[in-house]
Amino acid sequence: METVEQQNKNISKDDRKGLYKTIFSRRDVRNQFLDTPIPDEVLSRILYAAHYAPSAGFMQPWDFLLIRNSETRKKVHAAFTLAHTTASMFPGEKQDACCDFKLKGILDCALNICVTCDTTRTSPVPFDLPHVSTRDTYSSVCTIQNLWLAARAEGLGVGWVSIIDEETLKAILEIPAHVVPVGYLCVGYVSHFLKKPEMENDGWLPRLDIRNLISFDRWHGQPERSEAGILQQLKQDADFPAAAQEGE
Ligand SMILES: Cc1cc2nc3c(=O)[nH]c(=O)nc-3n(C[C@H](O)[C@H](O)[C@H](O)COP(=O)(O)O)c2cc1C
Repeated sequence: METVEQQNKNISKDDRKGLYKTIFSRRDVRNQFLDTPIPDEVLSRILYAAHYAPSAGFMQPWDFLLIRNSETRKKVHAAFTLAHTTASMFPGEKQDACCDFKLKGILDCALNICVTCDTTRTSPVPFDLPHVSTRDTYSSVCTIQNLWLAARAEGLGVGWVSIIDEETLKAILEIPAHVVPVGYLCVGYVSHFLKKPEMENDGWLPRLDIRNLISFDRWHGQPERSEAGILQQLKQDADFPAAAQEGE
């Protein structure tokens, strides 16, 4: 009888390695953008990857606004800068670290992409569920993650900037009332990718231990003896992300 591994052989070991390498070496990028243009064939592949994300009810609520125009970007940059200046959310040192949000990426990178969610773009719902708009938003977030990973696989960095007055952004980009801007992304080639998140390097927060985020059968439920193996395995695999990032 075929093992599960054999049945799934359409994803080879090398494919799998490439996927994990992409996942663990993806970074949120701000400072390292180059102005090298993105070839259309590369952008096309990334947009297809984004468009093949899962979506609730297969509603595909996303649109992708490709923003190259420098005047538009200056307006967006000004709106983000204003939002950051007025948002004094964090005290002391955290404020200082947090304020280095490197909004320059909006102007420096090759392309800005605003990913939206059209809350009215529902397919006929095959089951009798009330309309839950968070599901629409989650779908647009899935498309962003696909885009982010595909961009990394193409050697492109992505930076997500999110602190902005939504109505101002909508006005600048002429986004209609029923459409929500979900993510504003800076996309472009970069000088290098950092190995760790900037916020981790800057001492904002450490990476949490995944073993503390896992519970069994109920919120914070402790494992039965037979279930504890996964916790031991996670401990044993603690170096997996770093090794996979190197492609080992
Ligand atoms: C929904 C969302 C919003 C974010 N907004 C911002 C932002 O406004 N400014 C910023 O510098 N980074 C933002 N980020 C990036 C995170 O800071 C970054 O993902 C996190 O520090 C982990 O780093 P990594 O993506 O390199 O692993 C955002 C990320 C997400 C998922």
